[in-house]
Amino acid sequence: MVIAIDGPAGAGKSSVARKLAARLGFTYLDSGAMYRCVALTCLEWGADPEQSGEATSTAESIGISFEDGDVLIDGVDVSEEIRSPEVTEAASKVAVHPGVREAMVIEQRRMIATGRYVAEGRDIGTVVSPDSPLKVFLTARPEVRAERRAEETGGDPREILVAQLERDRRDTEREHGALKTADDAVEIDTSDLGLDRVVDRVAALAAKRGLV
Ligand code: CDP
Repeated sequence: MVIAIDGPAGAGKSSVARKLAARLGFTYLDSGAMYRCVALTCLEWGADPEQSGEATSTAESIGISFEDGDVLIDGVDVSEEIRSPEVTEAASKVAVHPGVREAMVIEQRRMIATGRYVAEGRDIGTVVSPDSPLKVFLTARPEVRAERRAEETGGDPREILVAQLERDRRDTEREHGALKTADDAVEIDTSDLGLDRVVDRVAALAAKRGLV
C-alpha cells in the first residue's frame, strides 16, 4: 500500500514524505533518487543524458537499492554524489525518456509491492501507483521553492529559481509520466505552512481513510 506524495522541486515532498513515513512506521521511497542514479551513471560512463537510447541502456544496466537511508548503485553508496547540481540537471533530462521511465517504474512497483510505503516523486499517483488510497500533491510558490532549495544546498536563490523553472517545464511537458495532479489527489500549498503542519495534515487524512 502506498501513500503517494507528488509535486515539483522544493514543494517539500522529501521532508514531508520522510517524516510522515517515520511517524506512521511506513517505508520511505525517494523515486527522484533513482532518476539521479541513472543521471550520475550516464555522466560517469560518458553517455549522453539527452540521448534516449544511451540513457535507457544505462538505466537498464544498473541496480539501484536503498539501505538505511543511503542510495546505492550496484552496492556502492552514492547518496552524496547524486545531489550535485550537474546530476540534478542531468536527472531532469534522463527522466524525459520513456525507456528510462519504464525501467524505473518497474523497479518502483516491485519495491512498493512488498509493504507499506510513503513514495514521493512526480508520477507516483498517476503512473506508479494509480490505485493508491491517498494521493497528495504538494505545491508552493516558485520563489519559496527556490529559497528552500538554496537553504538546503547553498547557492543563489535567483539562479536556482531559473534552473527549477526549466526543470518544471521539462517535467510538465514530457509525454510520459508528466508532472500533473492526479484527479483524486488532495492538493496542499505549503508556501506558508511549516513542515509539521503539512505532516499533521497528511497524517490526519491517512487516519481518516483508515490507512493507519
Ligand atoms: O526535488 P528535485 O526536483 O530537486 O529532485 P528529485 O525529486 O530528486 O528528482 C530529480 C529529477 O527526477 C526531477 O527533476 C524529475 O525530472 C525526475 N523525477 C521524475 O521524473 N519522476 C519522479 N517520480 C521523480 C523524479
